[in-house]
Amino acid sequence: MTNKKLKIIINHAKIYGFIFRSSDIYNGIKSIYDYGPQGVEMKNNIKKFWWNYMVKYRNNIVGIDTSILMNNKVWLASKHIKNFKEYFIFNKKNKKIYILNKFLKKIFNKIKNKKKKIKNIILNLYKKNKIKILNKILKKIIIKYNLIKYYKWTNIKNINLMFKTKFNILKKKKEIYLRPETAQGIFINVKNVKNSNRMKIPFGIAQIGKSFRNEIISKQFIFRTKEFEQMEMQFFILPGEEKKWYKYWIKSRLKWHYYLNLGKKKYKIKKHKNLSHYSTFASDIEFKFFNKFKELEGIHFRKNYDLKNHIKLSKKNLYFFDYKKKKKYIPYIIETSLGLDRIFYSIFCSSLKIEKINKNKRIYLKLPFFISPFKIAILPLINNEKIIKISEKIFNNLKYTYNTIYDNKNSIGKRYKIQDSIGTPFCVTIDNNSIINKIVTIRFRDTMKQKKYKIKYLNKFFKKKFNMTLFYKKNI
Ligand code: GAP
Repeated sequence: MTNKKLKIIINHAKIYGFIFRSSDIYNGIKSIYDYGPQGVEMKNNIKKFWWNYMVKYRNNIVGIDTSILMNNKVWLASKHIKNFKEYFIFNKKNKKIYILNKFLKKIFNKIKNKKKKIKNIILNLYKKNKIKILNKILKKIIIKYNLIKYYKWTNIKNINLMFKTKFNILKKKKEIYLRPETAQGIFINVKNVKNSNRMKIPFGIAQIGKSFRNEIISKQFIFRTKEFEQMEMQFFILPGEEKKWYKYWIKSRLKWHYYLNLGKKKYKIKKHKNLSHYSTFASDIEFKFFNKFKELEGIHFRKNYDLKNHIKLSKKNLYFFDYKKKKKYIPYIIETSLGLDRIFYSIFCSSLKIEKINKNKRIYLKLPFFISPFKIAILPLINNEKIIKISEKIFNNLKYTYNTIYDNKNSIGKRYKIQDSIGTPFCVTIDNNSIINKIVTIRFRDTMKQKKYKIKYLNKFFKKKFNMTLFYKKNI
């Protein structure tokens, strides 16, 4: 993505109340953002779309909301304390940090991939986490191929990506972690949920919540941040059924993404080569952010990794029982994990349109209707008592069903411009004709066309435009 495009996006998000830099009056804090009035509405609409599709309209998935802070043993069992690390290398000269695999790519480019054997050795060491030997080999390569630029680089270092804070400061064991994924809150509650809601396998538990990661490289606006929200679902299945459900969830999640109508060609499935420590096989749903495909959502087969480890450490009976085979077992898990901020970013970037009309520039947010912060804007054309009365009546009639905004400030042109910029799909203008003939004008955001409608048909018109039942019926 070019810096120019990114600047336009960031600027638009700020001016129109979608996203602000956190702690802005103190010059911000790196990679942390706040959502403004329009941003929070849009975020809530994405959450609702996800929740309806994943939880509300299914009878085998339930939702929960677990805590951010958990007993440290959760992260010990899940192996996040041991394995949730990022390896990086530091350039002492320009003070730049590189994630290890990006650095390795640079080195491979320099030796022009001629030495396939060397490349394989390095990749193998990297995969097996043999960092000490990798350090030695990298040094040798730098000398052998005279890569002077890299003499100034440090050895490979690592940090755990989990944020720590203090708990119960008077006690000795006082460090505690902010969760880096919402998933563990689900695993440790599986028995509670199964028993309280009489869930039968296969079933899912979903949640939306904040996660925290001390990311080393976190450029690109809200693509990768240190504080973010995840929408995750863990699907508990019988061992042996993993291929079926893995395929099912990839297909199902794609249908959800396609409904956003950003263009099917913008999505790609990419199988993971470097698996997370908990995954047996996994794929990413990638999205074309400007001209580059990048991870949007992960579909992971976690096998019984997490429950097995929690059983081992907690010594609690988290086993399921197979009544047919008359034996206990640990279920397998397929996880779908989507970053809320990341999908927000993908929708926002794809929807910002800049067009030239005659000699004028037109900027509008072509958001999917159901994602727009406001669905309808009520705009009285003249500040006249009768017109205001009708306008308020229409506003009060629609606002309980649709997120509706009322605006009688500024010229009508300026008001249209503002609604275009925040992505409101329909503007309803009320004028003298509304008093005499009970007719209003609806202006369509995407085409700027205007049509007259009888006030009494407005409800029917909007019901048709915003009805999503068919999608849910067809795709769940
Ligand atoms: N529970 C599995 C898990 O957390 P992940 O691939 O590390 O898997 C899942 O993350 C999704 O969460 C990613 O596909 C992305 O959408 C989002 N995500 C991860 N780290 C993020 C970050 N630092 N900022 C924003 N979103 C992030």
